[in-house]
Amino acid sequence: MWEIARDSQVLDLNSSYSYLLWCRDFRDTSVVAEQDGRVGGFVTGFVRPADPRTVFVWQVAVDESLRGRGVAATMLSDLLDHLAYQGVTRLETTISPDNAASKALFTSLARMRYAAITSRKLFTNNHFPDQHESEELYIIGDDNTGGEQ
Ligand SMILES: CC(C)(COP(=O)(O)OP(=O)(O)OC[C@H]1O[C@@H](n2cnc3c(N)ncnc32)[C@H](O)[C@@H]1OP(=O)(O)O)[C@@H](O)C(=O)NCCC(=O)NCCS
Repeated sequence: MWEIARDSQVLDLNSSYSYLLWCRDFRDTSVVAEQDGRVGGFVTGFVRPADPRTVFVWQVAVDESLRGRGVAATMLSDLLDHLAYQGVTRLETTISPDNAASKALFTSLARMRYAAITSRKLFTNNHFPDQHESEELYIIGDDNTGGEQ
């Protein structure tokens, strides 16, 4: 997962240790796609402590050699199916304004699942201590938080 994030050259690269911890403690809300025993894609997510109906997707990435085959959309759809039993009905993620692939992916996911997709500002450049781009919140499913973030 760390290697795929590193090679994407788009994602924030977290420490290799953080991916190990993630897999230990958030395995139920994360997904890997394997081909020939190797990880070719992953989703890291968590159920929001303040809203147990919502899974927040932190990172999704697919190795370049496997892109364009529906791997990312399938991982996300499988994650929603897997969490439905515990009452998760909404997916949130953030996307930086220039990530067209990510916007296309989540729009496609909403279409696949016959769900609404809405977006609004979440973290602007001013929130970040470094040169990090802004992150817009995308919600798939009911957007009934009344603006609470
Ligand atoms: C974004 C990413 C995960 C997509 O993975 P993928 O397995 O190729 O995506 P899928 O094949 O499941 O495609 C799902 C939809 O997104 C669209 N899409 C995927 N990549 C696209 C791109 N580069 N440009 C435009 N649309 C794209 C597909 O056309 C498809 O839409 P459709 O159903 O309308 O045809 C992959 O390009 C990636 O790892 N990028 C680098 C990391 C990143 O930006 N992650 C997202 C931010 S967390």
